[in-house]
Amino acid sequence: MITPLLLCGGSGTRLWPLSRKSYPKQFSKLTGDESLFQASAQRLSGDGFSPPMVITGSDFRFIVTEQLADVKIAPAAILIEPQRRNTAPAVLAGALKLEATSPGALMLVAPSDHVIPDAAAFRTAVIAAAPTAEAGQLVTFGIRPDRAETDYGWLELSEAPDFTPKAQPLKAFIEKPDAVTAQTMLEGGQCLWNAGIFLLSTDAMIAAFERHAPKTLAGVRAALDMAEIDLGFTRLAREPWDALEDISIDFAVMENADNLSVMPYDGAWSDLGGWDAVWRESGPDDSGVAIGGPATAIDCHDTLLRAEESHQHLIGIGLTDIIAVAMPDAVLVAHKNRAQDVKKAVAALKEEG
Ligand code: GDD
Ligand code: MG
Repeated sequence: MITPLLLCGGSGTRLWPLSRKSYPKQFSKLTGDESLFQASAQRLSGDGFSPPMVITGSDFRFIVTEQLADVKIAPAAILIEPQRRNTAPAVLAGALKLEATSPGALMLVAPSDHVIPDAAAFRTAVIAAAPTAEAGQLVTFGIRPDRAETDYGWLELSEAPDFTPKAQPLKAFIEKPDAVTAQTMLEGGQCLWNAGIFLLSTDAMIAAFERHAPKTLAGVRAALDMAEIDLGFTRLAREPWDALEDISIDFAVMENADNLSVMPYDGAWSDLGGWDAVWRESGPDDSGVAIGGPATAIDCHDTLLRAEESHQHLIGIGLTDIIAVAMPDAVLVAHKNRAQDVKKAVAALKEEG
């Protein structure tokens, strides 16, 4: 059996004004009837999967319980972080918690803000990777790249990827390369994007931390040993947690480990890293127009119009390559090519206070 660990941390500033510090993007219904978080929990349930663990911040604990109850999923545990310390401590806390009750169990680390439309195909790939993870490998999931993305991790294979699907050894893990390296990897045909999803056994994960990040291991262990159980939530202890280094699992472990494998995944995948990705994943019509809520497009092309409140109608006329998102207290209008600059709006607003 595989236990999913749903990572529920980020605030997703590139999806402002929908994604806020108080209500991050994974809890919003961005492209379907369920939130990204609910879709992630459902995707990783059924045959072969145990109830999920969730790790999140205190502010989101009731959103998490409500959204899981809505889709009739009872979590195995909800871990609460005193503050964000990035994915390395979060993943390790999940591994140690699971190891305490099921030594050597398989854990699937899954971000809760990705879109993977073909859930059945993805589950097949995860289950096909289980024997490799049981053998002590840290299994990454690799996506066919279509651009020289510098905001992703890259997986370098020794040969061309086999999408049958078959787990293959990994030659190198390169987290967020520079533009030149990314371009070389794209052209070489032996590299994939890291989906940020990992299948591993808890003992292999703990051993990797022992070797590559022993301080993090000691701190997270202390935070879990001193954790308080509060209304069924496992609250990690503040003092050791606050002292942890802020570091991602990719930099802390994956870039350094030598027991890495990759399971290539050929289906659609998106981490919804901006409004341009939301537009793409929202199923634009023949003119490239995607609509959300009470919005109307007249003679528009390659445009996303989203009205988030039922009482506020958004109308676009003669627009091309535009993103417009209307919330009751904020409206974003941007050129689609500038979608990544939305995080600048958030920074500017912060400065203005
Ligand atoms: N609980 C918790 N606590 N979750 C966190 C924390 C934290 O402190 N920090 C991040 N997360 C969650 C985010 O909500 C997201 O779902 C996931 O962990 C990954 O974190 P990101 O901050 O979104 O990472 P990234 O997108 O920059 O990079 C990762 O994902 C890429 C694919 O989307 C890396 O693994 C890359 O290598 C990968 O290509
Ligand atoms: Mg991400």
